[in-house]
Amino acid sequence: QIPVITIDGPTASGKGTVAHRVADRLKFHYLDSGALYRLTALSAIQHATPLNDEHALAKLAEHLPVKFENGEIFLNNKNVSNAIRAEEVGTLASKIASLPALRQALFALQLGFRKGPGLVADGRDMGTVIFPNAQLKVFLTASAEARAQRRYKQLIDKGFSASMEDLLCDLKARDDRDTHRAIAPLVPAEGAHILDTSNMTADEAVEQVLKWYAH
Ligand code: CDP
Repeated sequence: QIPVITIDGPTASGKGTVAHRVADRLKFHYLDSGALYRLTALSAIQHATPLNDEHALAKLAEHLPVKFENGEIFLNNKNVSNAIRAEEVGTLASKIASLPALRQALFALQLGFRKGPGLVADGRDMGTVIFPNAQLKVFLTASAEARAQRRYKQLIDKGFSASMEDLLCDLKARDDRDTHRAIAPLVPAEGAHILDTSNMTADEAVEQVLKWYAH
């Protein structure tokens, strides 16, 4: 059975950074499932697909012309690695993520990332829905303030403008949507190790995950 490590958690908890580094260290593949929701959101913006057209959005998700190459993400052969990180794309992604048909459309695509020698998958429902039989499940969390701070830095580094106040407000709204939606709500998977990274560096979190995996 090909090993899978799932790393789930709320927005800006540092899952992406940690999951990516753990994958590098183990020479495993990496699935950024949030990117798939962001790509669908970007695609919806480009096609001007209305938010309430679940069927059309699911179709977009099912036929995403996406390519992952050397850590870069391409949509229709255009590099959108930065574009999908825009805050409005994230907000739209978190809204359409509550649509069951859309989640279903992304299901098979995500399973396809499980390839030898192994996979590290990050998102909201990796351990609960997509890979419930994963070898190791981690639930990464951090205080809202620590997360807003990280998101701020990430956006500024990418050349976007940002305000801490808006980010904190947006983050709380996103937490609320992610934890209260009817389908695949954000909760720790059964058997998940909880890791609070509020006072931890990304490297310390990586070491902890690797230690759990080794045991
Ligand atoms: O950067 P952030 O953690 O906010 O988001 P992301 O991981 O890039 O995912 C974008 C949005 O997709 C999130 O706000 C979630 O609502 C949704 N998502 C989801 O529902 N299920 C996943 N497995 C991954 C992301």
